[in-house]
Amino acid sequence: MPATSLDQIVALAKRRGFIFPSSEIYGGLQGVYDYGPLGVELKNNIIADWWRTNVYERDDMEGLDAAILMNRLVWKYSGHEETFNDPLVDCRTCKMRWRADHIHGVCPNCGSRDLTEPRPFNMMFRTQIGPVADSGSFAYLRPETAQGIFVNFANVLTTTARKLPFGIAQVGKAFRNEINPRNFLFRVREFEQMEIEYFVMPGTDEEWHQRWLADRLAWWEQIGIPRSRITIYDVPTTELAHYSKRTFDLMYEYPNIGVQEIEGIANRTDYDLGSHSKDQEQLNLTARVNHNEDSIARLTYYDQASGRHIVPYVIEPSAGVGRCMLAVMCEGYAEERTKALPVEKLAAASEALQAFLKSVGRSEKLSGEARDAILARGEALSQALAERLPEVEQLLAMPGADQIELGKKLRGQVQPLIDEHYRTVLRLKPRLAPIKVAVFPLKRNHEQIVATAKAVRRQLQAGGQMRTVYDDTGAIGKLYRRQDEIGTPFCITVDFDTIGQGKDPALAGTVTVRDRDTMAQERVPIAELEVYLREKVMS
Ligand code: GAP
Repeated sequence: MPATSLDQIVALAKRRGFIFPSSEIYGGLQGVYDYGPLGVELKNNIIADWWRTNVYERDDMEGLDAAILMNRLVWKYSGHEETFNDPLVDCRTCKMRWRADHIHGVCPNCGSRDLTEPRPFNMMFRTQIGPVADSGSFAYLRPETAQGIFVNFANVLTTTARKLPFGIAQVGKAFRNEINPRNFLFRVREFEQMEIEYFVMPGTDEEWHQRWLADRLAWWEQIGIPRSRITIYDVPTTELAHYSKRTFDLMYEYPNIGVQEIEGIANRTDYDLGSHSKDQEQLNLTARVNHNEDSIARLTYYDQASGRHIVPYVIEPSAGVGRCMLAVMCEGYAEERTKALPVEKLAAASEALQAFLKSVGRSEKLSGEARDAILARGEALSQALAERLPEVEQLLAMPGADQIELGKKLRGQVQPLIDEHYRTVLRLKPRLAPIKVAVFPLKRNHEQIVATAKAVRRQLQAGGQMRTVYDDTGAIGKLYRRQDEIGTPFCITVDFDTIGQGKDPALAGTVTVRDRDTMAQERVPIAELEVYLREKVMS
């Protein structure tokens, strides 16, 4: 079962070094996050998979890496200066600011309905170029990577001699001054996009739009999000972005956040190439473009068949890396029992839970709202305690729960049970996993076992493809659990048999390989390890 609460992912991400709040030692920066040692590996693996699928495995794609800073005129003619706005309202009672379309007329902070009229707020960040701050020296941080592709259309076309249809892929940072960044990586002010602008003959755009929809759905499935967990939202005309003829939003059901956009696939028509072109009146454009007096180029394509210069239509699949990573982690997350709980221990935990809930019910320290929330969650938990015992931690982390003295007793009762009988596992596709293989010595102070384990690590890492780590910081069971929760698909243990000092001489030169998902263990000769693992870790 995927994560049931975003808190599970936030806690894991922090605990194990996937994600840190930006500038944390100075109180953080709202809506900005840093990717830690494991986060950067997972993010890079997602991007590499996207690039491989969309660039290397097709024969109609080129790559690009355009600069973040661009001439300000790009944003004038793209329409972003004029239209890249969110509706902003102020609460007159508590002075908080909100996006009008997110709050249904009620301030989420204080409940007041005394709000200002919505007014447009442009989400582009400004920065200054050069030493003199005047009206001509500012630039924007790009709010989408797409425009870097459009303004390079002619450069790519002439240097690659591509014929339509073809696409340009780009991965890079985008910045949006979101009014209310929230929900962890979901809505942030600095993020990465993986975007494709696919140029087609006008008239074939609708067919290509459908083909890209199918291709993108296949990719989400390939990285571990089942087709059944994605819904397609055919965006109604009234909600379409200013450049779009039609857009399919792919929606994923995040815990707590609900069904939300993970990728947009838009038909941008000839709007962008047309808007960035000179001599627009001679180009037979269909989109209502921005009149351009500054461009020095016609962004057209010479169609040999008709002998005419045309402006291609564009299909744009655009996905956020952070939203993707969050979905992949939610989907792969599981807390599961690894062995049966002794009946008497379960009964004692159940008793401690009931005593805690009784105390919550009687407490005068808690607000009514906090009490009801804890009781509701606690009751639900007690219905299936054996399956859901690890959720006691979340119960005890709920607002107000720390005020209940019996909470400590409950924690003391269940924690050892959780440690011994449950595990958290991140069932990532192996090729996305931050670490592919972890190598453990059965005894960390045995010279030969340690030397052999380190040699195995070096041998596997030498190929360059399998991120392999050595770990001797605990007992084997604990080390397995640490790797399970970060998604490492294989753990290798070097023991006395490996070095020829065990009970079975036939096992000399072999190690135990343990599979993350099945927890099954197999003896594999060291000499065959690389071949044994190579395909599996790239699956
Ligand atoms: N070039 C088209 C474009 O930018 P978009 O729907 O605004 O379209 C595309 O953004 C994707 O970028 C979204 O589907 C989402 O995955 C990601 N994204 C957009 N705004 C984001 C934000 N504030 N935080 C995180 N990801 C965001």
